[in-house]
Amino acid sequence: MTVANEPTGYTAMQILLHWVIAALIVLQLIIGEDIKPAYRAFSRGTEPVAGDIFNANIHVYVGLAVLVLAIWRFAVRLRDGVPAAPPDESVLLKRIAASAHLVLYLFIFGMPITGGLAWYFGFGAMGELHELAKPVIIVVVGLHAAAALWQHFYVKSDVLVRMLRPAGRRAP
Ligand code: HEM
Ligand code: HEM
Repeated sequence: MTVANEPTGYTAMQILLHWVIAALIVLQLIIGEDIKPAYRAFSRGTEPVAGDIFNANIHVYVGLAVLVLAIWRFAVRLRDGVPAAPPDESVLLKRIAASAHLVLYLFIFGMPITGGLAWYFGFGAMGELHELAKPVIIVVVGLHAAAALWQHFYVKSDVLVRMLRPAGRRAP
């Protein structure tokens, strides 16, 4: 069903934010372990060496940038909305896609928050949760990317293209 005034696609800003956040998350997954020597040193009450602090700061500031971009992205979503799932998609697939997107949103907010609680406030349990999330994110993002490619090459829907090319808005 098409609702009046429902967006026909994502805006250029939504697309830019999606890909910048995706790139930063992948970077964080790759460099995540680099924060550990400094984190361990602080947890033991010792002073980390300068190189370890530098590596840790990169992880912290890239992660905090993800949080700011995630808040921005969510605000844009509330303002501009998102396009409906392809009309011929089954109810089950629509639910799976919506749940996957919800989980991805939880990660882009939850990772910086749990990391920040561990780093700034010494909540070790939050650090452990943050670490445990790593393999889960890899699986969810992998399935999400595979689903997008499957939609594009096999189902031949416009789902991937609409996350690459901005669409106009319906007239109010
Ligand atoms: C860490 C990486 C990623 C994160 C956190 C992420 C997150 C998200 C989220 C939350 C949405 C829902 C957008 C909304 O409704 O507001 C979305 C949509 C989408 N993502 Fe990703 N994504 C990532 C990587 C990727 C990759 C690698 C691809 C493609 C290969 C991709 C393709 C898409 C597409 C095509 C949509 C639109 C789906 C639709 O219109 O129904 N994403 N992504
Ligand atoms: C997008 C956001 C983030 C992602 C995807 C991410 C990812 C990761 C990964 C993959 C690890 C290594 C886990 C392992 O080796 O098993 C890690 C460790 C860690 N991260 Fe993040 N991180 C993010 C944001 C942050 C932020 C903003 C902070 C701090 C302000 C932070 C603090 C930490 C700490 C303290 C550890 C070490 C935890 C421990 O050893 O118990 N992270 N992170």
